[in-house]
Amino acid sequence: MMQGQYIVFDGMDGSGKGTQIEFLQKKFIGTVVFTREPGGTPFAEEIRKIVRDNPLAGKSTPLNNFLLFWAAREELLHNLIVPTRKSGKHVFSDRGDSSTFAYQIYGEANNGLITPFFEMRKLVFEKAGRQPPHLYIVFDLPAEVAHSRVMAAGGSKRNHFDTRKLDYYERVRCGFRNFSAHIQNVVLVNAEGSPEAVHESVLNVLAERGILPK
Ligand code: TYD
Repeated sequence: MMQGQYIVFDGMDGSGKGTQIEFLQKKFIGTVVFTREPGGTPFAEEIRKIVRDNPLAGKSTPLNNFLLFWAAREELLHNLIVPTRKSGKHVFSDRGDSSTFAYQIYGEANNGLITPFFEMRKLVFEKAGRQPPHLYIVFDLPAEVAHSRVMAAGGSKRNHFDTRKLDYYERVRCGFRNFSAHIQNVVLVNAEGSPEAVHESVLNVLAERGILPK
């Protein structure tokens, strides 16, 4: 049986990624298994609570957050991505290692983690039976637009990553764009248009790459 493909959808907070994933869920539910990072399995969801929701994580070191995100990813690969791909279904993940590159390295201005990042990719993605994501779709837009969308969305939806200042968003955007310079199979989708127009662009990318027909 043909293995399913592993596709990551990523972008800054405020990029509209969540809305795009909802559109995709409506269209492809049953055909595709949807998951998210950090999280996606019971154990990885526990790591999510620590690394995303606990304000102490925001006060810890970039290296510690880096390791926790990779720990959650290792768990997700083992318990969800590898078995789902083997069953022949595609996995669409809300975020992936592209976020670690953009947030923990660029957002936190921690260039010392670039080499460890590529070592972790080898360690985690190149185990027997595993492969790195086949495609990353990154929703790209100016940092000011993303930042003002998040500020307009208000308090209850925000986590400790969302409340950062504009210069942080600028570094994160730069991180995603640099990720696409390092890794071949990254497509940047312009996320400034209407949700419907962005959805159309995503469907076109998936169809052009032979992943799913429109
Ligand atoms: P979430 O509320 O899921 O954000 P969104 O709905 O925008 O995806 O929170 C995930 C947060 O975790 C998000 O702010 C980005 C951050 N993150 C990292 O910093 N590094 C990572 O490797 C991952 C996967 C997420």
